[in-house]
Amino acid sequence: MENIIDKIVSLCKRRGFIFPDSEIYGGLANTWDFGPLGVELKNNIKKLWWQNIVIQRDDIAGLDSSIIINPKVWEASGHVSGFADPLVECKSCHTRFKFDDLMKGKYGEVSMKDGYPHCPLCGGELTEEKKFNLMFKTFLGPVEDKGHLAYLRPETAQGIFINFKQILNASRQKIPFGIAQIGKSFRNEITPGNFIFRTREFEQMELEYFVKPSESKKWYRYWQEERLNWYFNLGIKKEHLRLREHSKEELAHYALSCADIEYQFPFLNDEGWGELEGIANRGDYDLKNHQEHSGKDLSYFDEETKESYLPYVIEPSAGVERSLLAFLLDAYHEEKDKNNETRVVLKLHPQLAPIKVAVFPLLKNNPELVNLAQKIYQDLKLSLNVLVDYDEVGSIGRRYRRQDEVGTPWCLTIDHQSLEDKTVTIRDRDTMQQERIKIEEIENFLRKKLTNV
Ligand code: GLY
Repeated sequence: MENIIDKIVSLCKRRGFIFPDSEIYGGLANTWDFGPLGVELKNNIKKLWWQNIVIQRDDIAGLDSSIIINPKVWEASGHVSGFADPLVECKSCHTRFKFDDLMKGKYGEVSMKDGYPHCPLCGGELTEEKKFNLMFKTFLGPVEDKGHLAYLRPETAQGIFINFKQILNASRQKIPFGIAQIGKSFRNEITPGNFIFRTREFEQMELEYFVKPSESKKWYRYWQEERLNWYFNLGIKKEHLRLREHSKEELAHYALSCADIEYQFPFLNDEGWGELEGIANRGDYDLKNHQEHSGKDLSYFDEETKESYLPYVIEPSAGVERSLLAFLLDAYHEEKDKNNETRVVLKLHPQLAPIKVAVFPLLKNNPELVNLAQKIYQDLKLSLNVLVDYDEVGSIGRRYRRQDEVGTPWCLTIDHQSLEDKTVTIRDRDTMQQERIKIEEIENFLRKKLTNV
């Protein structure tokens, strides 16, 4: 399916998952908004990560730190000096480019002078390659000078490191233990694109797991396995994921080693493999730098050995939008039904599906059927506390198709028999099989299916 990404973009817009941002003003390039179903899917991904990482374990605590923090943090972390892309800039129109992109023809034929390219937009002269920082800058308060400069965080991780000691004291954790955070981060990427794959504003799900330095390799491997299994358990096909160890040249400025969990996206080069999540061994890089720059002791005291040391950190860092895109791509199916008509179905894991169940009265002009359907709909919404849809428009077949397209795992139809024997049909999205179930059993049936991934 070559144009699957076009189909996904179109489905996302039509059915309210993802809209181009600021569309009434002509849009803002590479900026997207999550609509009614998109926000549910996104929240489900974040909730499942949080449950798996924080709630179901006893060695990890949660955090929600600020987006704008003391700029000294970014000096200590190395982001002010090291978080930069080498770029050339046009001296006339000031557009910046990756030198490699120009030479590889990404902007078409570029005119050359003495072997050096000229601006593909205005023909202007280009500077030598210089490092341009990826952090968004802003100013705190009314004065726009250097003393009031601040940054939008480019990773949530630093909020964790600067709170390390406070969380340690407040939660009385013992190493190994972790701190998890979900939140927005910002990077002034030079080449955003590929739908929601690379955007300048994005959400991260990050865990910093603090360990004894001598045990860091063990935990590095442990988290690789844990995180791969999380995606597999939520339905990503084995053959679409791989783990790729970074070469030394690729490593971020803070990493001793790093492996990416990559998904095979249908739109990227190099067979499509693109990063969903990086699992890095950051060593004691961050705590050591913050200790030096702040002058505060950030070491951990081991009660058993009576030794103090700076822990090493293993960091699984996942992109929310990227995993959302991978879940959508993996779930997207086109199938022929028995009438040889194409059925589009999102085979999302039930825990990810935005709408968990839809309720239909067979006929919309039969008050008895409508009343019973409405009652079941209202009861399920409140008792299960999940998104339930009610639809009485069009043929039952059309209504099933509408739910298939947005990944609703079950549909309940209330028919004449329901009025007599208090049963309804329950139809499974993937098999399209229907069975009858007692109304009083629906809640338990769904509850069982929706707990324990
Ligand atoms: N904290 C790792 C990253 O943002 O890539």
